[in-house]
Amino acid sequence: QKETVSHLRPELFDFHGVSMAHYFTDNCDNVDNFQAKPDDILIATYPKAGTTWVSHLLDLLYFGKSSPKRGVSLPIYERVPFLEFSVPALCPTGVEMSDKMTTSPRLIKTHLPVQFVPKSFWEQKCRIVYVARNAKDNVVSYFHFDRMNSLMPEPGDWPNYLQRFQEGKLVFGSWYDHVKGWWEKKQVYPKLLYLHYEDLAEDIDRELDRVCSFLGVCPTEEERRQVKEGVKFDAMKKNSMANYSTMNVMDFKISPFIRKGKVGDWKNHFTVYQNEQFDKEYQKKMMNTTLKFRTEI
Ligand code: A3P
Repeated sequence: QKETVSHLRPELFDFHGVSMAHYFTDNCDNVDNFQAKPDDILIATYPKAGTTWVSHLLDLLYFGKSSPKRGVSLPIYERVPFLEFSVPALCPTGVEMSDKMTTSPRLIKTHLPVQFVPKSFWEQKCRIVYVARNAKDNVVSYFHFDRMNSLMPEPGDWPNYLQRFQEGKLVFGSWYDHVKGWWEKKQVYPKLLYLHYEDLAEDIDRELDRVCSFLGVCPTEEERRQVKEGVKFDAMKKNSMANYSTMNVMDFKISPFIRKGKVGDWKNHFTVYQNEQFDKEYQKKMMNTTLKFRTEI
């Protein structure tokens, strides 16, 4: 039985122009100096965009056949280390875990905005899978996550949280800057696959094809079937090695990590007025990009 730790709430602070919490910056020198290997695969997201979904998918795709028990015996945060994570009281840092990994390829997760990614990933020309989720569902999911995770700053109430999302005052900064920054990078860095949560939810077969062709892997029909089974919402929700239930900084009584997994849950949270205000602000902030999102499917 895990004991929930609930006294760690950090403050938000400005880190080179991006709002951060110290658990994700304390190790920044080692993160900056991280040595990537050419076959590393970086999974990059703004928090709550489907990181765990795609991490579990890639892990099953690469290792499900050779180690069929891996996905149900090793927690996702050990299979796919979180690069900038630094809570020594809890576990080795993301850099230490990544350095120790013996698998090939290494799958590594980050929430860093593109300008903070260690230069070694670019020098080694690593493949990167970025996952983006529409702003409305993303902020709802982040709100519930910040409520249940004591490593995150106090979320406060929903109206205030929504306001801070628009101002970029959440950990890892502005959603707008994040998704647009990575989108711009994609235009100049061909080894970046830009996925959308909504597309994964709509047609996992199609998205799995895109992932496989990007990574150059050719699973058999049976392997594909197993990957698709493993990454279904209900399967991941039940799988303690994918659902974070072994992490004692999270209080599932407040909200589970794998919560609803829906496109459009924002409709249960936004008032009509909040939605109108949000749309106005959104239009302004997304005027200068070709990046598009769907808030329903
Ligand atoms: P909700 O809070 O909307 O349910 P991340 O892994 O980036 O932290 O993202 C977590 C979000 O992805 C949560 O969203 C979670 O439920 C959702 N998610 C995780 N696994 C999923 C799956 N297999 N299918 C659909 N959504 C999934």
